[in-house]
Amino acid sequence: MLKLLNKSLFLSLGSAIGSQVSLRVACHTQARPMPHQFAKVLDHPLRMKYRDPVETLGPFGLGPGMTVLDLGCGTGTFTVEMARMVGETGIVHAVDLQAPLIDQTRLRVGETGVLNRVHLHCCGAYQLPLADDSVDVAVLIATLAEMPNKLLALAELSRVLKPGARVAISEELPDPAYVPPVTVRKWLTEAGFRFGGQIGTFFCYSMIFFNEK
Ligand SMILES: C[S@@+](CC[C@H](N)C(=O)[O-])C[C@H]1O[C@@H](n2cnc3c(N)ncnc32)[C@H](O)[C@@H]1O
Repeated sequence: MLKLLNKSLFLSLGSAIGSQVSLRVACHTQARPMPHQFAKVLDHPLRMKYRDPVETLGPFGLGPGMTVLDLGCGTGTFTVEMARMVGETGIVHAVDLQAPLIDQTRLRVGETGVLNRVHLHCCGAYQLPLADDSVDVAVLIATLAEMPNKLLALAELSRVLKPGARVAISEELPDPAYVPPVTVRKWLTEAGFRFGGQIGTFFCYSMIFFNEK
């Protein structure tokens, strides 16, 4: 009986590890957006244990009156806090490729009474509906690695960011598209951004870069 239990435990563990490995390999060989059907994981209480919006956004330097870009906003997990941080005179541009996620963000932002300072855009990162030199801080949480053409996305980001403006890139290991800090730093420096520091752990980290143009 004990032998049988051990065997089935071993098999379940093996298939769990196997599916994790194949999911991660698939995400890295062909970058793609997380399907919106899985959006519940973004607001899972376990995620919020290491992804508290106030703590995550705190070091990114958002402040009253700023124009902030939440690129790949998902369900708006961080959009609401960004809107609070920029205050009544600021603007948050929440961008996502998937309409159901923009709808969820709209609902969430509306419920917290900050919709007037959030502009929602259902579009891709390669062509943003924003003016040149108009953004003070861009935030990409668990998003950049999902984009097939990082250089194109970063060039567009540089266009909309003010000279010297900040980009915060944040990654977390439970995300199957997770990439380590060394990879993010390589992508950003190749795209012409200047490294400004790193915080957090290998498991969940954030990096700040400056737009050098
Ligand atoms: C893993 S989710 C993270 C969502 C949110 N930033 C968070 O951390 O809760 C990544 C999001 O980026 C969006 N995304 C991926 N590629 C994109 C692209 N090229 N342009 C715009 N959004 C994109 C996806 O649709 C998805 O909502």
